[in-house]
Amino acid sequence: MAILITGGAGFIGSNFVLDWLAGCNEPVVNLDKLSYAGNLDNLSGLQGDARHIFAQGDIGDSVLVAGLLARHRPRAVLNFAAESHVDRSIHGPEDFIQTNIVGTFRLLEAVRAYWAALPLQEQTQFRFLHVSTDEVYGTLAKDDAPFAETHRVEPNSPYSASKAASDHLVRAWHHTYGVPVLTTNCSNNYGPYHFPEKLIPLMIVNALAGKPLPVYGDGQQIRDWLYVKDHCSAIRCVLAGGKAGETYNIGGWNEKPNIEIVQTVCALLDELRPRADGQSYTSQITFVQDRPGHDRRYAIDARKIERELGWRPAETFETGIRKTVQWYLNNPQWVQRVQSGSYRNWVAKQYGVA
Ligand code: NAD
Ligand code: DAU
Repeated sequence: MAILITGGAGFIGSNFVLDWLAGCNEPVVNLDKLSYAGNLDNLSGLQGDARHIFAQGDIGDSVLVAGLLARHRPRAVLNFAAESHVDRSIHGPEDFIQTNIVGTFRLLEAVRAYWAALPLQEQTQFRFLHVSTDEVYGTLAKDDAPFAETHRVEPNSPYSASKAASDHLVRAWHHTYGVPVLTTNCSNNYGPYHFPEKLIPLMIVNALAGKPLPVYGDGQQIRDWLYVKDHCSAIRCVLAGGKAGETYNIGGWNEKPNIEIVQTVCALLDELRPRADGQSYTSQITFVQDRPGHDRRYAIDARKIERELGWRPAETFETGIRKTVQWYLNNPQWVQRVQSGSYRNWVAKQYGVA
């Protein structure tokens, strides 16, 4: 038996592969294009491990995907691969349409052909798990109830629109063709191997480099934060016990305004790596122009996955963020290697400084 995952060299995918192989011996076939966000460094601990089979390629390459399915005969396909950064989707939506929509469509078609030809028992047990986001639900006002699975889908950014489109395709492939799919919609992850274009790792690396900490708008936008290893455990839980055709929301019950996240990161760095001049890292906080169309608040109602599958996060925000800051302090070489030429180009484009 084996599972095939896509996007397993990215932030969440690589954490998933590492946790999966730490917990069992079932091999993982890992299909990843190695875009700017894909990083085999994340998986260096698996070098020489026959349980990890890496294939570089695109989820939209139907011939490649069909070949991998035929060769490895996975019992499940987990789709993590995506263009994932909202700001990049605002600068250039094309890649998001291509990977998140067209790529998911082609992957679904390859999986449908493979699944349809399986012997009945394997067909019944097979699952296609699609990893999606809470951003498909749009934005909430301060006092609105958190997003439940039944919330209307109202994406506001090119990224979230492309993810919502992919969720719809996955749903349709179940209803029309009977492909046994599962969809998860999760809130903001943080933790090891998080690419430093996203809020928390960007704040850590900029703080340590003595650079400004750019907070968009008034910093009062609210996100729900989940430690990445809790997201991975939730996905394992949905894969094991989720009902085909169902959607499960995953969240950390940790709603926080961005400014509070940044202040918490600063306070941890003040404790663990104080600045030489004795000042707090908060002095580096700079309010900058807001993200266009910036969603004000996300919040997840994660009662369904708890009630039906017994999942709850293991980390609180306080324990998870401490581990995260410590991980970045312990892994400066990883950060240095990630900050390649193309990363510097992005920072210059988005923030106007190198
Ligand atoms: P990421 O950007 O860190 O990694 C994405 C990975 O997909 C990279 O390794 C990249 O090389 C690969 N990839 C991109 N296009 C590909 C293609 N066409 N074919 C094959 N591989 C390709 O993203 P992430 O933060 O790890 O997110 C993983 C998934 O989880 C995404 O689907 C994202 O929408 C979803 N998600 C992310 C979060 C979050 O907070 N990061 C929260 C909820 C859901
Ligand atoms: O909600 C789940 C989503 O979380 C995932 O689907 C996305 O893939 C993931 O990137 C993340 O999206 P966000 O846009 O919420 O994450 P980001 O880290 O880019 O931003 C978090 C918040 O911080 C957001 O309100 C914008 C703000 N921000 C971000 C950056 C990069 C800043 O204030 N300054 C910044 O420099």
